[in-house]
Amino acid sequence: MFSKIRQSIGAREAFDLVQADLREVEREISVESVASVEAITTINQYLQAGGGKRLRPVLLLLCTKLFGPANDTARRLAAVVEMIHTATLVHDDVIDVAKSRRGRPSTNVVWGNHISVLAGDWLYMQAFQVALRERNFHILDVLISLTQAMVEGELLQLERLRRIDITEADYMELIDRKTASLFSACACLGSIAGGADEATESVLGDFAWNLGMAFQLVDDILDYTSTEKILGKPSGNDLREGKVTLPMIYALETASAEERALVETVMADGTYEEVPFMRVVQILEQNRAIERSYERAHAFTQTALATIANFPQSAAQRALRSIVELVTERHS
Ligand code: IPE
Ligand code: IPE
Ligand code: MG
Ligand code: MG
Repeated sequence: MFSKIRQSIGAREAFDLVQADLREVEREISVESVASVEAITTINQYLQAGGGKRLRPVLLLLCTKLFGPANDTARRLAAVVEMIHTATLVHDDVIDVAKSRRGRPSTNVVWGNHISVLAGDWLYMQAFQVALRERNFHILDVLISLTQAMVEGELLQLERLRRIDITEADYMELIDRKTASLFSACACLGSIAGGADEATESVLGDFAWNLGMAFQLVDDILDYTSTEKILGKPSGNDLREGKVTLPMIYALETASAEERALVETVMADGTYEEVPFMRVVQILEQNRAIERSYERAHAFTQTALATIANFPQSAAQRALRSIVELVTERHS
């Protein structure tokens, strides 16, 4: 299940360090997937079996391990963040009219939008139900702020669809909410489980925020440079859906009037029938957009690495460093 992300030796070691905990997390997720209405249980099982990198639980557990061994609270919260992540993907796929996820038809394709929205709601609330067992208001505070940020991010994205005048700042504001907020919350929850003080929790939150920003940026680069077979979701999707992401923002800064018109055509048509996808990739390359986007992603990972370097050397600290490196090296 985790094979996709085990690209480097460092990353493999990072996953090995939390492997036993992750097994517990998977067990917890499957126990918590059972509803009194069968359709919901079926969807939850379909989602869990679809795999995924489990990056957020890994991040949370490693943050706890900076302070000592992972405990029941950390494993429970690791299940919570993965359930929240999955629920947001279900809703995201409805909103994006996505066709596939994790290499399989997305829930909206199999069960339709109505059932998928409700199943996503159920899973989301189940995650809160599990979190509530900790009887800790600070944890709920983190989760509620996180949920509002993610909803704001998806909403901003909807408002900005098919807008070619999006700026780099607009883009950063959006990915901060839709993706980096969850990464940051994972580190905060991991710190809470590890008994860290609030100042340390906030530093680790910043660390993971930078990681999350880089992660989404790379996701948006891979949408142009990778393939569906590798990604488990279609490539070239963002522009077709009308999402102007950082690679395209950079390209448009220097694109010719003709190139800009081609990009507008794809967005207006919602297909690559008139302007082939390869032509769009060529526009990005000619304008150094992929290169510049990777440079920006690296700037975020450099900040993350500098932050984590301030923590005492340990297996967990090294593992977190490997995870950061993996984010900009990943292909899926
Ligand atoms: C997908 O996240 C959503 C983004 C923030 C880009 P992942 O790429 O971590 O998804 P899974 O869990 O591995 O499928
Ligand atoms: C990320 O949005 C999903 C969430 C943060 C909810 P995207 O729409 O960019 O992610 P993919 O490409 O569908 O995985
Ligand atoms: Mg989306
Ligand atoms: Mg999407």
